[in-house]
This record gives sequence, C-alpha cells and structure tokens, in this order.
Amino acid sequence: MVKRVALVTGGTGGIGSAICQQLHDDGYQVVAGYYSGGQHDKALAWQASMKEMGYEMAIAYGNITDYASCEACIEDIRTRFGSVDVLVNNGGITRDITLRKMTPEHWHDVIATNLTSVFYMTRLVVNDMLGKQWGRIINISSINGEKGQFGQANYSAAKAGMYGFTKAVAQEVAGKGVTVNTVSPGYIATSMIMDVPEEIREQIRQGIPVGRFGEPNDIARVVSFLAAEEAGFITGANISANGGQYMH
Ligand code: CAA
Repeated sequence: MVKRVALVTGGTGGIGSAICQQLHDDGYQVVAGYYSGGQHDKALAWQASMKEMGYEMAIAYGNITDYASCEACIEDIRTRFGSVDVLVNNGGITRDITLRKMTPEHWHDVIATNLTSVFYMTRLVVNDMLGKQWGRIINISSINGEKGQFGQANYSAAKAGMYGFTKAVAQEVAGKGVTVNTVSPGYIATSMIMDVPEEIREQIRQGIPVGRFGEPNDIARVVSFLAAEEAGFITGANISANGGQYMH
C-alpha cells in the first residue's frame, strides 16, 4: 500500500522531531521541513541521527516566511513522494520582549514565521487534499495563544491567530474529507523554553499542576491522534496539552 505523506514544518526541532518519529511509527512517509538559516548540514546530521535510531526520514528545505520558497518545498515533496496528505504546521520562533521595547522586527519576524507561514503552507497543500477528498492539517499553537503571556505580545498574537485560521478553513474543507485542528502545547522541555531566564522558568514550572514540563512526546501523541483515519469527525477543534497550567 502507498504510504500517506506527512510533512512536519520545523521537523528537526524539539517537538518536531518527536512528531516525525511518532508519525513514522504510525506508518507515514515522513518529511521533515527545515530551514535553519540555510544550514543544510544541520538537517543532514539530524537525518543521519534519525537513521541510526531506525527512522527513515526525508528532509525538505524551505523558508516558511517566503511563499516562493514554500512553493518550491511542496513541489520538491510532490516530485519525490507525491502530494502531502498530513500537514503539521509546527515551525515557529520566539522573540520575547515586553511591548514597550518590542521593535517592528520583533513583531514581523514572529508573525511571519508563526502565522503567515501557516497560511502559505496550508494554501499550497489544500487543493491536493481536496482533490483526493482526504487530508489532515494540524496547526501547533500554544498555551500562550490561549491565555496570553507576559513578554510575548507578538507570539501570543500569532498563536491566537491560528485558532481563527483553523476554524475558518475547517469550515471551507469539511465537506471534502479534510480536517483542520490546532494543538496547544504548554511548556515543553525543549531548547525554546531554555531561552527563558532560569528564575522565570522555575516560576512557570511551579504553576503547572502536574508538576513538570511536558515532553515532546506529549504533543506528538496528540498529533498522531488527530492525523488518524478515525479522527475524521474532529475538525475546527483545539486540543490543549499543558499539564493543567491553563484550563478554560
Ligand atoms: N508578570 C508580571 N510581571 C512580570 C512577569 C510576569 N509574568 N515577568 C516579569 N515581570 C516583571 C519583572 O519582575 C520586572 O519587574 P521590575 O521592573 O519591577 O523589576 C519587569 O517585569 C521586567 O520587565 P522588563 O521589560 O525589564 O523585562 P525583561 O527584559 O527583564 O524580561 C522577558 C522580559 C524577556 C519577556 C522575561 O520576562 C521572560 O522571558 N518571560 C518569559 C516569557 C515566556 O514565558 N516565554 C515562553 C517561551 S517558551 C514558548 O513560547 C513555547 C510555548 O509555546 C509555551
């Protein structure tokens, strides 16, 4: 049987790697999208380390803030593996700083990478999905899109924007077998939270009822659930996985 193709943007990062591994275990042809400022060696090293662990991952280069680059990335995947069946919009950055010091660059970098990219990539795969009458689009948002976060006006706005995008597109494609959902991770033990000063990080950890930061696998399992054939009745939804840090 031909494998379904799953593209994970930011696939070589902390949460991205776990999602790639989980989807590989689930039987997909997994493609990890990467940019890394054009550091191809880094992605190749990631691919080699995955292979050592028994994972045959494909990688595809693309700058998700640039529509032409996204187009080239999707075309490359289409040529090598066929059209994308499962898109996980996971790539993202932080530029944490209080609003009074935030520059237009801090703002635009985060909106472009975390939100506009979701439009670009989804736009570029959706017609193939509609043509096949099957598809899964899973947008990785954040607890901080749900509740806001001190020092993250840009990031919180981008992540909150994903919910509106998800719910609008979900309505447009629901009749054609394509689902669109968000997953909202809490604080997951990756390099992204290591950028938060230690004292603040510890305060945050103390505010998580389960008493620990999440693991990348905690998110990968939710993505796997939403990507499954059996999840076809779930669309326009958001699943929070945050250790109880925010309940609403
Ligand atoms: N609530 C209220 N006040 C706060 C605060 C909070 N949560 N955090 C800091 N402050 C206060 C400080 O106590 C300090 O007060 P004083 O001036 O009275 O001493 C003041 O705000 C600091 O203000 P500054 O403008 O000088 O800010 P800074 O440059 O020192 O640091 C910051 C600002 C970099 C944003 C820092 O607060 C920080 O890193 N916060 C954490 C941001 C965060 O949670 N990021 C998440 C990254 S992980 C991620 O994003 C993944 C995901 O999806 C969850």
